[in-house]
Amino acid sequence: MLLGVNIDHIAVLREARKINDPNPLDALPICKLSGADQITIHLREDRRHIHDNDAKNIIHLSQLPVNLECSIGDEMIEIVCDLKPHRATLVPENRAEVTTEGGLDIKNNFEKIKTAIEKLHANEIEVSLFIDPTIEMIKLSKELKVEWIELHTGTFANIYAMLFSGLDKTHHSIKELELSRKVLQDKLDHSIYEIKKSANLGVDLGLKVAAGHGLNYQNVTMISKIPEIIELNIGQSIVARSVFTGLHQAITDMKEILA
Ligand code: PXP
Repeated sequence: MLLGVNIDHIAVLREARKINDPNPLDALPICKLSGADQITIHLREDRRHIHDNDAKNIIHLSQLPVNLECSIGDEMIEIVCDLKPHRATLVPENRAEVTTEGGLDIKNNFEKIKTAIEKLHANEIEVSLFIDPTIEMIKLSKELKVEWIELHTGTFANIYAMLFSGLDKTHHSIKELELSRKVLQDKLDHSIYEIKKSANLGVDLGLKVAAGHGLNYQNVTMISKIPEIIELNIGQSIVARSVFTGLHQAITDMKEILA
């Protein structure tokens, strides 16, 4: 299983003080030495964590491939074409959100996404679409001729957290908090079923399948057991653990679970 380490949250910490420390660039050799397979960053339109200069330097200096998440906005696509990461992952973006909530709405943005993909491909950047795990989204992704899809695991992760991690009802981003355990278990089974079915169809259609969002040291095993999924992009849980153990240990711990 390939691991993309999302280092946005190192920049989140820096932005808390608006100084130069910690610098996400310092994570690059540690990620490489710890066995990460890819660096993932999200250049958000509001530049709340990773800035243009970070992206430029990370792409220039990383010895690992860089997967740059970005919106489908025209200006952003131009910037990404100039930056030339190894891969661009197109994600929906809403400025008010705490983090990416849900996958791309390909149905209502088909032409815009198609144009963005064509521009990225013309610049020799491979493209991934961050999508909800539904048959419709997989088929639309295939029509768009991308190399990769990344299945959104946020819903799965939220339900898992409610069932097994004792999350309390004050957690602001989780809608499923009021449900009974039986309903939550059914929802978890259903969400895993949807992810498996989608991964399966993706592979049948010749797409490479990644997954990510909300994955952590507890829930990741259920996703990593799905053989069609060949890459996971994980940020929050790895950077959170690194505060206590250091980044090297946090990444090697995750790699060990995925081995
Ligand atoms: N994949 C995508 C497309 C994302 O937008 C994010 C969050 O930036 C991640 C993976 C990583 O999610 P998390 O930080 O919850 O591990």
